[in-house]
Amino acid sequence: MDTKILRDLSYGVYIATTKYDNKNVGCTINSVIQVTTNKIAISINHDNYTNKCIKKNNMFAISILSEKSNPKLIGTFGYNSSRDIDKFNDVEYEYILEIPVIKDTLGYVVCKVVDIIEVDTHTIFIGEIKECNKYNNEIPMTYLYYHKELKGKTPKNAPTYIPDEKEEAKENKKKNIFVCRICGYKFESDLDELSDDFKCPICGRGKEFFEKI
Ligand SMILES: Cc1cc2nc3c(=O)[nH]c(=O)nc-3n(C[C@H](O)[C@H](O)[C@H](O)COP(=O)(O)O)c2cc1C
Repeated sequence: MDTKILRDLSYGVYIATTKYDNKNVGCTINSVIQVTTNKIAISINHDNYTNKCIKKNNMFAISILSEKSNPKLIGTFGYNSSRDIDKFNDVEYEYILEIPVIKDTLGYVVCKVVDIIEVDTHTIFIGEIKECNKYNNEIPMTYLYYHKELKGKTPKNAPTYIPDEKEEAKENKKKNIFVCRICGYKFESDLDELSDDFKCPICGRGKEFFEKI
């Protein structure tokens, strides 16, 4: 069985959001499907704070990233927990049906939870669409774009995580590869060192957070 075939499934990149206890919460997700004309499903890991908060509120939104969206959104929402930080601090958002949606995206879909399916590590939330709108006509960011253009990695809590992903790096022997310890962003360089002002384009951390592999 070659589980690498699963990497050939196609996805987009989204921020799933909700509100609980007067606090805006959310996380980066790739797992969104349209189930019927007026229902979508998202898959959220049991360990994610967003999971608990959607169960409490029974409402969630997805904001759909475009290729023009700031990639830092992926890091802020995908490599931190709303348990620890306010992810919305430096992010422009607005409330739709009292759920925060992110403005630096191409639009949003707001849903009421109508069904919940527990599957091993993840909960599938089925949401009935209550409101949706486009902000612009930019090109939606695909998961492939995230991997190939932004050199992003799949974190442990994403359903698409495959444990041996580090093996990919070993295949590239010609260049030095620097990996961000926070978000897993990989930077390839002919040089042995990163420059002092180097910043991770995904999570914004500096050169000291990078490890050469
Ligand atoms: C590109 C990307 C895709 C992700 N996809 C999912 C996903 O589909 N489902 C999920 O549960 N977590 C996914 N994650 C991981 C969560 O975003 C991450 O665990 C986050 O820190 C959870 O935050 P929270 O504790 O505030 O909910 C993804 C992360 C990234 C960077």
